[in-house]
Amino acid sequence: MTTSSQRTQAPVLVVAGARPNFMKIAPILAELERRGQASFLLHTGQHYSTQMSDAIFRDLDIRDPDQNLGIGSGTHAQQTARVMEAFEPVLMKARPSWVVVVGDVNSTLACSLVASKLREEIGCKIAHVEAGLRANDWRMPEEVNRVLTDRLADLLLTPSHDAKPNLLAEGIPAERIVFVGNVMIDTLFRALPKARELDLLKRLGVQPGKYAVATLHRPSNVDSPDTLRPVLEGLAAVAERMPVVLPVHPRTKRNAESFGLTGMLDRLMSIEPLAYLDMLALNDGAAVVLTDSGGIQEETTALGVPCVTLREQTERPITVTEGTNRMAPWPLTKAGIMASFEGAVAAGRLEPGARCPEGWDGKAAIRIVDALT
Ligand code: UD1
Repeated sequence: MTTSSQRTQAPVLVVAGARPNFMKIAPILAELERRGQASFLLHTGQHYSTQMSDAIFRDLDIRDPDQNLGIGSGTHAQQTARVMEAFEPVLMKARPSWVVVVGDVNSTLACSLVASKLREEIGCKIAHVEAGLRANDWRMPEEVNRVLTDRLADLLLTPSHDAKPNLLAEGIPAERIVFVGNVMIDTLFRALPKARELDLLKRLGVQPGKYAVATLHRPSNVDSPDTLRPVLEGLAAVAERMPVVLPVHPRTKRNAESFGLTGMLDRLMSIEPLAYLDMLALNDGAAVVLTDSGGIQEETTALGVPCVTLREQTERPITVTEGTNRMAPWPLTKAGIMASFEGAVAAGRLEPGARCPEGWDGKAAIRIVDALT
């Protein structure tokens, strides 16, 4: 039988796989360390390029992973299966008290599935950070990952108050749900002074408040020329008003090349993907950000920068009702994107933190570790 003192010795195993996970695990690891709680950092290797992984670890002072599964790119089934197969022996050996998964990427679901089957044998529990967000669109791989991870988790840690009703509606018992706020915003507020010291804008030759930022990587936007073309036309129209800086995601780059659309990328200031601090500096200085990323909808709300979301729906509606976000009309067209951009410019910028949902206060990691212990 496990005694309570053996229990506290067992590490908390924290899973990270893809770029948007890294800003969520950084403050959790730091808080575990501050309290003297042992942790085991597992990187699945879903993202592996320097700019998509190592550079962000460096920016956020995240220690080297205790293990990197090195699974790399592949189809959804390949990625999920490879993580599962590689994670199982690691979990058996690490014997953690908790497996903490964050967000909604394939690694999140794969590790939750493995842990759920070994839960009894090892005596570990699963905590999902960012639980309860729903786009109500099962065509999105992330929606499948979110719903199933929430179903498997013992502890559902929610980032905003809209999440709990979603979980209750799916039959999740209320006692498993704990509101902790948005841990990614812990990272943002901690890093903002450092980001403001960078000379990125000067290097790019843009003026604070006088340029737009765009990011695109959702398969629903970039995997077909019929969707990618109108989005790029919309961004090109914006570029006639002000420079549009587009850090190009590898998926978007690959697809634009195969659809013969790279000429359209050239009408924007297309640059390589940025590490965390540079991206924060870029968003912080923007007049408007146009994006299909979930995390950037949240970060722009925290920064007070107007955001136009280039998607049919969002799993983060709180950024519209209590933040600076607006949805471009669907389906995306040049005219619709331009009209949303004009609306966002007219709305103007706010000070960071001026209009934020509750719990987006830089203290979410404290509440997360409280909930674990
Ligand atoms: C994944 C996540 C998505 C998240 C996004 C952030 C899933 C289902 N999707 O999508 O939720 O918003 O990450 O980036 O988990 N590639 C590289 N270097 C890398 C990683 C990928 O060049 O380090 C290239 C590969 O060609 C790969 C493609 O990018 O095939 C797509 O990567 P993948 O991890 O499959 O999906 P993302 O689109 O990044």
